[in-house]
Amino acid sequence: MARHKVARFSKLPQAMAWPVTVEDYDIMLVRLGDEVFALEDCCSHQEFPLSQGEIDRQACSVRCRAHGATFDLRSGKATKAPAFAPVPVYNVTVEDDDVFVEISD
Ligand code: FES
Repeated sequence: MARHKVARFSKLPQAMAWPVTVEDYDIMLVRLGDEVFALEDCCSHQEFPLSQGEIDRQACSVRCRAHGATFDLRSGKATKAPAFAPVPVYNVTVEDDDVFVEISD
């Protein structure tokens, strides 16, 4: 498990997708309040970038802009068709103003 510094917490906008690339992984960060979520930036339906979608703060989800599938930001679970498979999520830690994402080796 490798830990990567990916962003400054104070620079992350609220309830907006923030795409980052770590090694070969495209990841979408989303800050909601004091929490940060990290998901693979790729819809499981037809591989559209989820970072171009809409964040629903109340539902803690992202809606894919391509065909409307939604995913839970906490679990990556698909919560609305046409996607049924989950997207990978990554463990996030915040230390001082640094945001770290853990990626399996
Ligand atoms: S590519 Fe995301 S819903 Fe189709």
